[in-house]
Amino acid sequence: MNFLGEPDGFVIAERCKVVVNKCFTMNVLGIDIGGSALKGAPVDTATGKLLGERFRVPTETVYTPARVAKAALEIVRHFDWKGPVGIGFPGVVQGPLILSSANLHKGFIGCDGEALFRKALRLPVSLINDADAAGLAEVAFGAGRRKSGTVLMLTFGTGVGSALFVDGRLYPNSELGHVPIHGDSAEKRISAAAKERKGLSYKKWAHRVSDYLNILETILNPGLIIVGGGISHDHAKWFHHLKVKTPLVPARFFNEAGIVGAALQAAGRLAK
Ligand code: BGC
Repeated sequence: MNFLGEPDGFVIAERCKVVVNKCFTMNVLGIDIGGSALKGAPVDTATGKLLGERFRVPTETVYTPARVAKAALEIVRHFDWKGPVGIGFPGVVQGPLILSSANLHKGFIGCDGEALFRKALRLPVSLINDADAAGLAEVAFGAGRRKSGTVLMLTFGTGVGSALFVDGRLYPNSELGHVPIHGDSAEKRISAAAKERKGLSYKKWAHRVSDYLNILETILNPGLIIVGGGISHDHAKWFHHLKVKTPLVPARFFNEAGIVGAALQAAGRLAK
């Protein structure tokens, strides 16, 4: 059960925010684990604001769990942090366990991620999928605030992450970046990394993204799509090439959403 007495993994972002405001207002160190770096900052979970400048530790996708945990410790030490830590991981997270790792070391698969980071950091730790974290931040404080119905957040980076909300309630680990297209995970064609790797112009890449979004529209009929990840900064260069029915907006937190959302969920789970 989570802190709202709901089945594990289900969070109502709006309610989460209200509860956070009323009883669980706390500062939490949010850490976002990505393919090329770990990024972290202390977050005021009542407002979603960063309390310090984001600190980045470059890593590589081949880094073992132990090395990634060491990089997380660098962030903790940088801020001289002594409180709770929320961590967003790019894979399926069920309770304390990491069940997939498409773009990071395979040693993460099946690993007790919370125990790994708790031992390395010697602090209370709560883990969540990185895109779910980003979605929570946007729905609580950003582009998805007060939006009812189906809201889909997609993050374009090394992989493609998804966070699916219905009336503010998160359906965890939706993993829509792995929808098969031409026999392979969609993210292999449409991630920001794929754009770089294949040297695609914004226009060409946006056409691929459109095909993907059209599939998601057919299946899910979302009322709003929020686009996050570093490439959402450049939305003016590619949104106009997209052919989609659904209103599409850039994330308000851009690529800080993962940090803020990781902190938010930790505030809910650890403040008991
Ligand atoms: C992972 C997701 C993650 C996404 C973005 C995908 O490869 O399977 O869990 O959210 O990348 O990092």
